[in-house]
Formats: sequence, structure tokens, C-alpha cells
Amino acid sequence: MLRTHTCGELRLNDVNQEIVLCGWVQRVRNKGSVVWVDLRDRYGITQLIFEEAETASELMDQASKLGREFVVKASGMVVERVSKNDKIPTGDIEIKVTGLEILNRSEVPPFTIEDDTDGGDDLRMKYRYLDLRRGPVRNNLTLRHKMMQETRAYLDGQSFTEVETPVLIKSTPEGARDFVVPSRMNEGEFYALPQSPQTFKQLLMVSGFDRYFQIVKCFRDEDLRADRQPEFTQIDCEMSFVEREDVLHTFEGLIRHLFRTIKNVDIGEIDRMSYEDAIRLYGTDKPDTRFEMQFVALNDVAQGKGFNVFDSAELVVGICAKGCAGYSRKQLDALTDYVKRPQIGAKGLVYVKYQPAGEAGNSDASFKSSVDKFYDQNDLKAWADKMNAEPGDLLLVLSGEKDHTRKALNELRLHMGNSLGLRNKDEYKVLWVLDFPLFEWDEETERYHAMHHPFTSPKPEDLDKLESDPGSVKANAYDMVINGVEAGGGSLRIHDRTVQQRMFRQLGFSEEEAQAQFGFLMEAFEYGAPPHGGIAYGFDRLCALFGGSDSIRDFIAFPKNNSGRDVMIDSPAKVSHEQLDELGIRLVDR
Ligand code: AMO
Repeated sequence: MLRTHTCGELRLNDVNQEIVLCGWVQRVRNKGSVVWVDLRDRYGITQLIFEEAETASELMDQASKLGREFVVKASGMVVERVSKNDKIPTGDIEIKVTGLEILNRSEVPPFTIEDDTDGGDDLRMKYRYLDLRRGPVRNNLTLRHKMMQETRAYLDGQSFTEVETPVLIKSTPEGARDFVVPSRMNEGEFYALPQSPQTFKQLLMVSGFDRYFQIVKCFRDEDLRADRQPEFTQIDCEMSFVEREDVLHTFEGLIRHLFRTIKNVDIGEIDRMSYEDAIRLYGTDKPDTRFEMQFVALNDVAQGKGFNVFDSAELVVGICAKGCAGYSRKQLDALTDYVKRPQIGAKGLVYVKYQPAGEAGNSDASFKSSVDKFYDQNDLKAWADKMNAEPGDLLLVLSGEKDHTRKALNELRLHMGNSLGLRNKDEYKVLWVLDFPLFEWDEETERYHAMHHPFTSPKPEDLDKLESDPGSVKANAYDMVINGVEAGGGSLRIHDRTVQQRMFRQLGFSEEEAQAQFGFLMEAFEYGAPPHGGIAYGFDRLCALFGGSDSIRDFIAFPKNNSGRDVMIDSPAKVSHEQLDELGIRLVDR
């Protein structure tokens, strides 16, 4: 090695040692007679000192000309600092430099490479390799590395075998669009990149692998958000001869192991909730259960009193914000504006303040609402009782079509949770959401889609309703939700050709289409397919949760931006006419 030590390891007990460090110049402070240089590497920062009285003038000159991000090799002696810096582990010492070699020069970087940077998102993405020099970004990737090691250690300990599956495959429907790759040798034909290794892991069960896992890249051409990237990583798993409990138990184990080894956190009891309850009580299949504020339907107490908005609504539903009765007009208006934003789309918001005794000139507790015209104190008391509200609380009520209203109230609940500081990043609440419907009705195409994917098994007791009442069929599917984030999802699978065929039929595939796309799987089911099931975690999402961030981008070394572009390498990009010719592709001007 060109160095004897790293920039993060020297301490007081190394004083008087001759050492050599290599690293990047983070900062130079030049006081004329003294020059200080902060030298950085992956391990930390160590201060170099050059003093006129003790340093050869040539060296002094060299030091004062160092620029940000120059790569240098410095040799010298460890000395105790006069003024110590308790913010960094090496802050008690500095290096009195006797030799300096510039290993490489650097242009002035486009943003400061320090923990707090002045670089905007776009600039940092364009120069991601420089952004990765910054401590917080590097720490995120170190966390990712540790999560990967611990995942492998746990699954290996549970007898899972890691098997790689191909990337050039054909379409597996997971609900997004495929990325496709033209084949030169098979002109006019395309591979699809896997949205997940779903069919391959099932085939591995037919092969008798019994327990498979893979930390694997998946590709989905869908609209991007903070928690979605076009290429992302799954911890993909499958097990044979299992019932639902076996899968849940094994993967609770994985999550416990990760929380314990990485964060030293015991996550305690993992709650379970049916999909139906999740929707009814939280308006979403991924509720944040760090805080209560459950939905309460008010139809029976709020309808029939002459308030037409509620009377004509399919659902009148509210949440109780503890201790918020003192909200000002301005705060309530802001909440109303919040739910009326087009993304949320509520028409309005009804509030009821449950004012404690002694307030608003009343000797008893009283109610003040935005619908006092229609509801008297007794009416509002009935709402409050239904919602288990106490004096001092604020009730927030929405109404309208069921699904739409629940969606909007979910947003409002999360918004209130944020404003009231109930969504603490250092607190973790893990939840299984169980018993999803097998199908989801799509208004646009006017047909059923698989809610999870077409390989998910219906609950055996619902099998006979597959054709007669598909909407009521429950699936043997489960999601793991952590702090309101869908961290993973899976199911028990169909392992019988006839059931799989019935499933494809329900999804609108003709016999021929099903055969052409998935004949290989159905054929495999005829050669002794064991009962099996599994799960896949969104690995980037797990990393972001553990790192306390909402954005998975921060945990991916080279992520894409919101338009799916890698602005650093400038991709996607055009290819040459020769390449297109070879592939037999002609671009049509539109
Ligand atoms: P599913 O489609 O639910 O299931 O995906 C599993 C998990 O992957 C994560 N995820 C994503 N993360 C980042 N960016 C994306 N675009 C993205 N899409 C999904 C989520 C999700 O819970 N084959 C099945 C699993 C199975 O049945 O075993 C599957 O892929 O955290």
C-alpha cells in the first residue's frame, strides 16, 4: 500500500509515530505562516499541518498550492493538536508533514464535497461519482452492503440456496410494462427484462431446490416516484412444502435478524391485519401503524339530518386528531386546502372541535363545527362518542364515494401524523397485511387483473367461486408493511395446471395466449410440482427504511432520475444506424 494508515484511524496513542496517509484534499486553510489541510478518505478526515518555522519553504509552497480534491500522499509525524476538534474521531491529533507527493490533480469540483453540500440534485446526479465521496451518501451504501451480507447470512443459515436466474427472458406480468431488448440473432424478436424472477423461482421449486433466494435486479417500466426506480433490487425467495404460516414465520425471522444486527432494535410483536380491515380502518393496504387515528364510519349518526352532502354520500368517515381542538381558523383552512388539492381530490372537509369545559365561555365541554347549521350538540356528541373522542380533540370528516373518500382520508391521516410528529423515523412498526382479494377490477379495461400476479393461489375454500363470483375470491397473499411502506409481498402459488389455466382464463387470456406465454410453466406443473410459496422484499426500500429516508435513490449507487434517465452517462441514448440495421429495426418518424 502507498499508505501506512487510513485517514480515520490515528489517535493520541499514535503520537510520535512516522506515518504515511493518502487521500483527497477536502479543504486548505492558509494563514501564511501555517497551512492546514483536511485530508479525506473513505475512513475519515485527518488534519495535516505545515508550519513555516519548521517546514522547508518548498514544501510550504506546495501545500499552499493544493486545490480541493487533489489526491495526495503525505508523510510525517503524528503530533498532539493544540486546539482539539471533538467533532471528528481523529480530532486530538494532526500530522506534521515532512513529505508531500501529489498523486493527481483535480479540477475545481462542481459542488463542495462535504457532508452538507451546496450541490443541487441535478448536479449531484451528473457527478454522482463525486457525490459518492461525501460521507452521508457513502454511509448509505455501506448500510446497503451490511444489509446484503446479513440477508445472505440469515438465509444461508436457513438452508436457502442462492441461484441466479437469467436477465434476458420473456415477459412476466407483475403489473408494469416490460423493458424489451431486441435479439440480433432472431430478427424481429425481443427479450424482456424480468419484472421479477417469479416464474424461474417457481421452476426451481419444481426442480427440487426446496429453498431458493436471490438478491436480484428487477426491471419495470412504470412511472417513477421516491420509492420506485425502473431497475431496483429484490430479495427474492421461494420455499416448497409450506403453508402460509411457514413463510410468514421464516421472513419475520429475516426482518428480526436485520433489525437486530444492523440497528440493534428488537421490533417486538409483528401485528397482522386483513386487507379488508386495512382498507376500512386506514383507507390503504399499507397503513402506517406507528400511530392510531383509525377511521370511523359515521353514516348512521351523520346522515338524515338534512345535510345533503352527507346524506347523498356512500361513506361518511372521520378521524380523531388528539388534542387538536385548539386549531385556528387558518390551520383548519390549510387542512381543507390540503384535501382539496387535485392529487387528493376531496370536495371539502368537515371539522368538529370538542372544546373542553371552561373554553368558549361554556361551563361544560361543547362542540363547535363547520356544520353547526345541521347538527346540534347532541348530534355532535354522538359522533364524538363513536370516535372515542375526548374534550380537546378535533374530528376531521370526509364523505363521498367509498374508495375515493378512504383514499383521501388516508392522505389526511398521514398529513396529520406528520404534523403531530407521530411518524418518528427511529420507531419501527412491522405489519403483515393478509388475505388480499385475488382479483382487482380495472375500470379502464373493464376486466379483472390479478391483484398480486397470475401465479397466486386462490384460498382453497374460494376456488369454486373463481368463475361465478371472481370479485369475492380471496388470495393466499401477504404483504409486509413497515411504517407505511410496502417492504415486501408474496403468496402461496398455484401448482396445478388446471387451476392455473382457469386463472389465465379469468384474466382474459385465450387458451392459445396462455399456452404461448406460459406453456412452459403449465407443462412443468405436470412433472411433479410441489406446493410452494414465497415472497420478495424491495431491497432498496428496506435500505431506505433502515437509513431513515423516504427516497430509495439515496441508497442506490447510480440511480436514475424521475424521467428514468441516468444523467451521468446520459442514458438512454440513440444507437447507430448500423446497430439498428443489424437488429432489423427501422425507426418510423411519427
Ligand atoms: P411485488 O411486485 O410486490 O412482488 O414486488 C416485491 C417488492 O418489490 C418492491 N418494488 C419496488 N421497489 C423499487 N422500485 C420499484 N419499481 C418496485 N416495484 C416493486 C416492493 C415490493 O413489495 N414476484 C413477486 C413476489 C412474490 O410473489 O414472491 C413480486 O415481484 O417493496
